[in-house]
Amino acid sequence: MSKAKYTVTAALPYANGPLHLGHVAGVYLPADIFVRFLRMNEHDVAFICGSDEHGAAITLRAKKEGITPQEIVDKYNKQIGDSFKDFDISFDIFHRTSTPIHHETAQEFFKVLHAKGKLTQETSEQYYDEEYSQFLADRYITGECPKCQNPSAYGDQCEKCGSDLSPTELINPTSTLSGKTPVLRTTSHWYLPMDRHEDWLREWIKEGKLDGVQQHDPKLWRNQVNGQCMSWIDGGLHSRAMTRDLDWGVKVPLADSEGKVLYVWLDAPIGYISATKQWALDNNKDWKNYWTGDRKLVHFIGKDNIVFHAIIFPILLKDHGDLILPDNVPAYEFLNLEGDKFSTSRNWAVWLHEYMASYPERSDELKYVLTSIAPESKDSEFTWKEYQTRINSELADILGNFVNRAMVLTQKYYEGAVPAKGELTEEDNRVLAEMKAIPARISKLVYAYKLRDAQAEAMNLARLGNKYLAETEPWKLVKTDLERVKTIMNIALQITANLSIVLQPFLPATAKKISQFLNFNTSDWTKAGNDDLLKSGNMTNVASILFAKIEDIVVETEVAKLESVKEVVSSFEPQKEAINFEDFGKMDIRLGTILSAEKVEKADKLLKLIIDTGIDKRTVVSGIAQHYTPEEVVGKTVSVLMNLAPRKIKGIESQGMILMAEDIEGKLSFMTPEKGFEAGGSIC
Ligand code: MF3
Ligand code: ZN
Repeated sequence: MSKAKYTVTAALPYANGPLHLGHVAGVYLPADIFVRFLRMNEHDVAFICGSDEHGAAITLRAKKEGITPQEIVDKYNKQIGDSFKDFDISFDIFHRTSTPIHHETAQEFFKVLHAKGKLTQETSEQYYDEEYSQFLADRYITGECPKCQNPSAYGDQCEKCGSDLSPTELINPTSTLSGKTPVLRTTSHWYLPMDRHEDWLREWIKEGKLDGVQQHDPKLWRNQVNGQCMSWIDGGLHSRAMTRDLDWGVKVPLADSEGKVLYVWLDAPIGYISATKQWALDNNKDWKNYWTGDRKLVHFIGKDNIVFHAIIFPILLKDHGDLILPDNVPAYEFLNLEGDKFSTSRNWAVWLHEYMASYPERSDELKYVLTSIAPESKDSEFTWKEYQTRINSELADILGNFVNRAMVLTQKYYEGAVPAKGELTEEDNRVLAEMKAIPARISKLVYAYKLRDAQAEAMNLARLGNKYLAETEPWKLVKTDLERVKTIMNIALQITANLSIVLQPFLPATAKKISQFLNFNTSDWTKAGNDDLLKSGNMTNVASILFAKIEDIVVETEVAKLESVKEVVSSFEPQKEAINFEDFGKMDIRLGTILSAEKVEKADKLLKLIIDTGIDKRTVVSGIAQHYTPEEVVGKTVSVLMNLAPRKIKGIESQGMILMAEDIEGKLSFMTPEKGFEAGGSIC
């Protein structure tokens, strides 16, 4: 039987920020291990990824950084792509959804669905910002959460209580564009009537059958994936809008759809197809071979993308026709960091690009630790302490120690030449049998998407070797039984050669080093388990240390770096949204002299000030009474925001505002010009 063919995808990361270890552990690293293993086993495989460059996530980030969406996606596509390269994730292509080939592919896909009557048009009322003349994507609306009263919930979700919301549920909705209350306007969109698909989805997910024909093995799907899908389906599937009113994205390819783009569901996963097309073009292949016929489509994703990949995308693929549906959707739970959730906005993260900049030679160490703690069936946690322990007491003390002993003793006793095996003892036979059994166990686990256990099995081979040397003690026997030592060292070297094969999917850089030590190189998995990989007389090289231990200072420094993030976050507000020069220029700020001050009745925080501003003498009510007595402030120089609209405070009209400096404890003080001044001087 010929080998199964695979198209493996890893969720397209949004090009709106860097990658952190949570993303790596729960999508990209497991996908990479799986694909490296498949390649070693001569499966025909395409490994596809790219950045997701559309949607409100991008435009909001652009607004925040004060640059254009295009600049944002260019910046993060490069940063993410570079960190994947540095970390050695072996995509066949890392593409982008802002490319023409993607836009064409997604539009074509839409047109096929539209022509086949797979989409319905529905009108609804949606929030519109009159000042900006545009409909507001869910994320552009904030307001009070109807469930927990959080005042800054988003139109699609409350981050405080986790409820899914729709914009019209928000109390006091505000547009984040203009800061005004949006109005409801009628708009029309294309919907996917998902209710039509309940029956076949049920059979397909539960039994792995499509029209009665077996497609995949449902036992290989994770419980979490089945569970989430079935609870969605059992709750009843509804129509979902597949288009949005937004000006950044793939335009809806129909007349009269000005200002409308495809929603992420009909955009990002089509990115897997357009990336395959680009890769096929670059390599003289036919992209269709990767999306049709007898081939397994596998999507590695985080658990927040389960319904997207196991229900919505399959519906789209089936509606489109002539395309394969996923064979599996290995979804990962979340990785936490030092007792807290990873958070991009709070900067509570270990960023991949920063890690690679600090430890450019330690990509395998990070891979090892992340696979050891991968959140395969439940959430898990990364701590720097565990990072240190796993590297020092597993990689260095077991794998590194074993390989080093085998190499050093071979140099010492045989000047590097592989000795010949003599007669085998019972122990030798047991060790060799164990060695032979390991590759098959790893294979079984990898095909079942249990990569964490698979890596542990590969490490068991190092453990076996380490124990073998510790028990046979060739360094003692060398004084009495030279023939026996040759056999022991031959076996130790065969184990080392096997390690250079079975470690390849997990620790590619380390496996390569070991093969250089041995002058032995194969990426043919079927060779693993063989006890005659190295011929006697073959020359080996002088080895170097595989893993330097992680000193305590590294852990302390990294933890302190995170702690400092926590402090900054708790004591300072994050930077506000970017404004342009025009916004800034609207403020009229001038220097003034306080002529008189008195307490405001029944308000212990307020002082009523009369200020000479150079152009007039005006009244300003200011909340500084708990910091200064009236006597203290008379004669002081202050900055006055002149054109703040007057408002009544405790019955007194305040005609402006004075600007004060506030320290981290909240104490106020005057900001006095360094050199002489005159009332009416301006702040610019
Ligand atoms: N960029 C989106 C996310 O990170 C979607 C990724 S999955 C894909 O959640 F199919 F859309 F690529
Ligand atoms: Zn809430």
